Amino acid sequence: MIIDTKRVVEPDPPLQPDDLLVITGAGGFIGGNLVRYFRKKGFRRIRAVDKKPLPQWYIREPGVENLCLDLSIEENCRRAVEGAVEVYNLAADMGGMGFIERYRVECLRSILINTHLIESAWRAGVRRYFFSSSACAYNIQLQQDPNARALKESDAYPAWPERGYGWEKLMSEIFCQEYWAERGLKTFIARFHNVYGPYGTWDGGREKAPAAICRKVIEAIDRGDLRITIWGDGRQTRSFMYIDDCVYGIDRIMHCDELIATPINLGSSELVSINDLVSLVEKIAGVTLKREYDLNAPRGVAGRNSDNTFIKKVLGWEPSTPLEQGLRVTYHWIKEQYEARKQGRHVVE
Ligand code: NAD
Ligand code: GDD
Repeated sequence: MIIDTKRVVEPDPPLQPDDLLVITGAGGFIGGNLVRYFRKKGFRRIRAVDKKPLPQWYIREPGVENLCLDLSIEENCRRAVEGAVEVYNLAADMGGMGFIERYRVECLRSILINTHLIESAWRAGVRRYFFSSSACAYNIQLQQDPNARALKESDAYPAWPERGYGWEKLMSEIFCQEYWAERGLKTFIARFHNVYGPYGTWDGGREKAPAAICRKVIEAIDRGDLRITIWGDGRQTRSFMYIDDCVYGIDRIMHCDELIATPINLGSSELVSINDLVSLVEKIAGVTLKREYDLNAPRGVAGRNSDNTFIKKVLGWEPSTPLEQGLRVTYHWIKEQYEARKQGRHVVE
């Protein structure tokens, strides 16, 4: 913790099924899955907000109030949080390395979303506010080697995050910490490590490695040309968190008073190289591809893993879906989408 955020924590009344939860970025991957998670858990009043037109939302849950609003505009944020008890901010202009290396300004501009949303939440008397930060907030100097040690929460400082996107996340974290320290809004900050699963972006330029590799394998099989182009030399390492672990973790973090204004890793600690990732997808698909490496493609850091010591200590839990298990579900979901698109159909559910 680089700033003093100590305050007396007053207990909240228990959360009721009729309390209004607001989830932003709900037309996207994690937000959409989070809406579904809370509906399944029995919450009756959920407001889902995204700037995308409704037909483009990845998930639309029945019985949810869906609003199409651009949250970089303050007035829209005020409308979005009216009557809310809890706000989950999953809205950001983001993507995998292909997007965040190319569109740094777009990524930085997401600061407007959090800036206006947290102010609106505080003014509206919201009880708890969640911010989706990223492992990209960590000092990149600690991630220069594929065997780099796993990142613990204190590794964000001294600050040297990923250009553009990482700076936006770090600055928004500071907003969350100061809104608690100065104004008493209970804020929660999770640093997600690469999340994958059904309903994630799988093409178009924003997709991350797991979905991209699944799609490339499916395309190769479909073309009958068993070759794949991998960005970088394939020796980069990452850990990948399955979406079910992510939404469960968000819920746990948001309702843990020990974590108020305290950034915490939410990621898997199963480290693999990108070559390993390709091998796993090949195994699932039942093929072996000829690998070609594009050394000019976006690569990001050389190695990144999540040190889960803190989350295990505070929550007695860590994301633990084995990569092969999560990838299998994801691969088949992407294959279904791919085939549906080829036949001119659009699959949502
Ligand atoms: P996503 O792109 O699928 O969803 C983000 C959603 O935010 C999109 O639907 C987009 O339309 C919406 N959005 C963008 N600008 C908006 C605006 N001005 N107003 C309203 N909505 C807007 O991304 P995701 O994977 O679901 O990520 C959710 C959050 O988690 C983001 O904050 C992201 O930075 C963070 N995160 C994700 C990952 C990951 O691996 N998926 C990793 C680290 C952090
Ligand atoms: N996207 C993508 N597509 N990446 C590929 C591909 C491909 O076809 N082939 C190899 N890679 C390599 C990239 O070069 C990179 O080294 C690695 O796979 C991981 O790429 P991504 O999944 O795109 O991103 P990331 O892990 O560097 O960063 C992601 O995770 C962060 C959280 O940990 C991004 O989504 C960030 O936005 C996110 O905050």
